[in-house]
Amino acid sequence: MYRKRNLLLIASLIVCTSYASLHLVENDETVPYPDGYRKWTHISSAVIGPSSPAFSRFGGVHHIYANDKAMKGFEMEEFPEGSVFVFDLLAMVEEQGTIKGGARKFIDVMVKDSNRYDSTGGWGYQEFKGDTKEINIGNLERQTCFNCHVRQKKMDYVFSKFRP
Ligand code: HEC
Repeated sequence: MYRKRNLLLIASLIVCTSYASLHLVENDETVPYPDGYRKWTHISSAVIGPSSPAFSRFGGVHHIYANDKAMKGFEMEEFPEGSVFVFDLLAMVEEQGTIKGGARKFIDVMVKDSNRYDSTGGWGYQEFKGDTKEINIGNLERQTCFNCHVRQKKMDYVFSKFRP
């Protein structure tokens, strides 16, 4: 009798845990790769050189892009749901005094989805390796992204400004 009950208990535990893992997948915080971002609005570009404290992580030539929803956000107090920004980092190449963008190091992406990313100001953060769609960071580092972007809380966590 006891044995039967234990078996039942084990069976229901298995059902519960598999449901829980399904649920986890459903709530996956993965930010999708921003297909076609190179044709979005170019916001700005900058070079982070060796004398910058950010060089080890962000050194190189970067370009920032915004999708249409994010563009609307620049006219509003905050960015609408579905806004996406891309920070596109290329290696720095110098040719006869001209600094150019070389190989792509990674792209950093921010997606506005207040329900999914409530704990990080309504923005999901993700990094993709080089020219691939492979994720470059884990959850811990996503928190690191937020810890720095939180400085821009007043601007809905966005550093960039659009100069028409
Ligand atoms: C040490 C601070 C710092 C950290 C850490 C950081 N960022 Fe940023 N991020 C910035 C700054 C400063 C800019 C603006 C750069 C510019 O204007 O050229 C920026 C710009 C961006 C942009 C363009 C939109 C905007 O806010 O201007 C995206 C997208 C972005 N970062 C994503 C990320 C992701 C994803 C991570 C984590 C993998 C991350 N950032 C980590 C400081 C940081």
